[in-house]
Amino acid sequence: MAKINKKNQVIVGLQWGDEGKGKIIDYLSKGVDYIVRFQGGNNAGHTVVVDGEKFIFHLIPSGILRKDKVCVIGNGVVVDPEVLVHEIETLKKSGITITPKNLKLSYYSHLIMPYHKNLDILREGARVNKIGTTKRGIGPCYVDKLTRCGIRLIDLIDPKRLYSKLKDNVLEKNVLVEKIFGSKKISFSKILEEYSSYAKILKPFCEDVVELLYQANKNNKSILFEGAQGTFLDVDFGTYPFVTSSNTIAQNASVGSGFPFSAINRVIGVTKAYTTRVGEGPFPTEIKTKYSDFLREKGSEFGATTGRPRRCGWLDLVLLRRSVIINGVDSLVLTKLDVLDNIKDIDLCVGYSYKGKKIKGFPLDIDNWDKIKPLYKTVKGWSGDIENVRDYKKLPSEARDYIRIIEDYTGVPIEIVSVGSKREAVILRG
Ligand code: IMP
Repeated sequence: MAKINKKNQVIVGLQWGDEGKGKIIDYLSKGVDYIVRFQGGNNAGHTVVVDGEKFIFHLIPSGILRKDKVCVIGNGVVVDPEVLVHEIETLKKSGITITPKNLKLSYYSHLIMPYHKNLDILREGARVNKIGTTKRGIGPCYVDKLTRCGIRLIDLIDPKRLYSKLKDNVLEKNVLVEKIFGSKKISFSKILEEYSSYAKILKPFCEDVVELLYQANKNNKSILFEGAQGTFLDVDFGTYPFVTSSNTIAQNASVGSGFPFSAINRVIGVTKAYTTRVGEGPFPTEIKTKYSDFLREKGSEFGATTGRPRRCGWLDLVLLRRSVIINGVDSLVLTKLDVLDNIKDIDLCVGYSYKGKKIKGFPLDIDNWDKIKPLYKTVKGWSGDIENVRDYKKLPSEARDYIRIIEDYTGVPIEIVSVGSKREAVILRG
């Protein structure tokens, strides 16, 4: 196996998702040949603004906006075919070229079925401790994958297999839906008809992704693996149980695509200049004052998928350092720094206390997180707008100090700073 020819990179979110990865992926995809998604599903939403036109992506990598790029949906992604077909059609209508040449789907991706969406809603409704899921059927689909009754793209395109696997599933799910949740039965024939129509559309896009990426690497092509959600939504290392159902960390790029991890040689971590989270779960630096509304309005902090208002808070360096360690981040991207313009004093969380005592190490017991208090370092903000700054040296000194504190605390350089939603609103360093 040719190990490293060019840079094969993974880009991941270091907070609770919504770090602004979409824009950075769009920016970085300019210089790569392949863009690969490896986990999650249409719970994700990336917004990219090009020449004033807004594109929202849920499944297809945003690299599709650029010519001559190959976009791949790996086996680790859970695919809702209804959403995927709709996304293909919508992008085509906007003039984006999408063909089996520039969009490849793994035969091994699991499908989100209508009963997964039903079960997501029913389970969430019945829970006392709600997670606040996106209700897109993500969790139930991953459950079926692990209990080995999932339906994959390779099954969808084979009418006999689809029939028999769907039959088993509908039988089982109807017991759950009717007897446990007291809800309406699922119709086998309706799903079969609907999914058979998706099969025809999606079949030409199916590919052996392992061979595809092997050949790409061998031929000195560069690959960018794009993570969805963020490290604290990771099912193992996040704020469990308030997490998503996949591994969102960089290491999963390999499992979710079949590309060897020894051939991935750079991890880029994206963090916002402050913190947000959607859904339930602990959030130590959440702001409960007017600044929360200020950040939400100025940063347009509303979910790209569900439209839900995001909870807003100060940057948490304890969490950021943890994410850097888990993912092995080589390079940081700081986004939305402009949102902090004209704030007199900015708080940065540099530790936690519990019952008046400083906590040593990382607080592992998530159940206690609502009782821990952030310890803040307050720094001077800057006045004026930085949206049009493109040269690092031209940033106000307070903004450069802010960047330096993050670098010192995490030990990782910030190489890209994003200062606005426009494609060109970035400052490159190094
Ligand atoms: P699920 O992924 O729909 O099961 O939702 C589980 C948790 O992850 C909920 O708190 C969601 O709000 C959150 N979540 C899932 N996807 C995203 C995302 O792309 N951005 C931010 N939060 C997300």
